[in-house]
Amino acid sequence: MDPNIPEALRRFDLTGRVAVVTGASSGLGAGLARALASAGARVALVARRYDRLVKLADEIGGLPVACDLLDQAQLEALVPQVTAELGGPEILVNVAGDIFSRDPAEIEPLDAIRKTLDLNLVAPFQLSQAVFPHMVAAGRGSIVHVSSISGQVGFPGYPQAAYAASKQGLSGLTAELAVQWARHGIRVNTLAPGFFRSEINDELYEDERFRAWLQRNTPLPANAGFDDFAGAVLWLVSDAGRHVTGQTIAVDGGFTTQ
Ligand SMILES: NC(=O)c1ccc[n+]([C@@H]2O[C@H](COP(=O)([O-])OP(=O)(O)OC[C@H]3O[C@@H](n4cnc5c(N)ncnc54)[C@H](OP(=O)(O)O)[C@@H]3O)[C@@H](O)[C@H]2O)c1
Repeated sequence: MDPNIPEALRRFDLTGRVAVVTGASSGLGAGLARALASAGARVALVARRYDRLVKLADEIGGLPVACDLLDQAQLEALVPQVTAELGGPEILVNVAGDIFSRDPAEIEPLDAIRKTLDLNLVAPFQLSQAVFPHMVAAGRGSIVHVSSISGQVGFPGYPQAAYAASKQGLSGLTAELAVQWARHGIRVNTLAPGFFRSEINDELYEDERFRAWLQRNTPLPANAGFDDFAGAVLWLVSDAGRHVTGQTIAVDGGFTTQ
């Protein structure tokens, strides 16, 4: 890094650090993978749609890794593959997530509830376990889970009970891992996005009434882009955030504060 860059900014430098980003084939994950790569990290780009990962790797470098996180064997193979090809991860950002039912809670199907918890909560837990020995060996590490403001607040008219439960579960996991692993120099935090237009919610944004409702209920202008999320990730995974652990931080333009 350029020695003329002030010390305060140099703390964001990730040169040489290996980062695993799940959900890198679209939306927030692709956006923050770009940001991590621009700060010098060697990024493992993880998702099911391999063609998209290859395209992103052509653009920013890094290692595309096809992995269905709902497939236990593929999940277990992920960190060993990354370690063999890039080195031991010092950064893990668990972005991959989905919603499997839009039914009201009283009739949400059990298989959808289980799938939601498996992808959104159990997979991040297991990947945290998988990177743990590498972070211990390095004497440092940063894990960021991407949850949601769903569950911090309910959304009348948009039922999502299992999704909200899975996302709020990440905050409990975060506090516990942060305390258990702090002595190894490992920090664990959760970022809770508000509304960012992506494949997961594109349909909603097609609805003019939704866009007007969002505008009315968001103190900052409600047109956030992926870069507006990536900055918070960069802070948490770099030395700039080295005294922050165990936190859940909303990146929502103030939606949950009013
Ligand atoms: N956008 C928002 O407003 C918003 C708000 C709150 C929370 N979030 C959370 O932010 C995260 C990213 O969302 P996004 O908006 O960027 O949505 P997105 O564009 O739909 O991205 C979801 C990512 O998860 C990956 N994924 C889904 N199922 C997977 C599986 N079984 N195995 C591996 N990867 C899988 C997808 O890749 P493949 O399909 O290629 O596997 C994709 O890269 C999610 O956890 C979401 O819940 C988003």
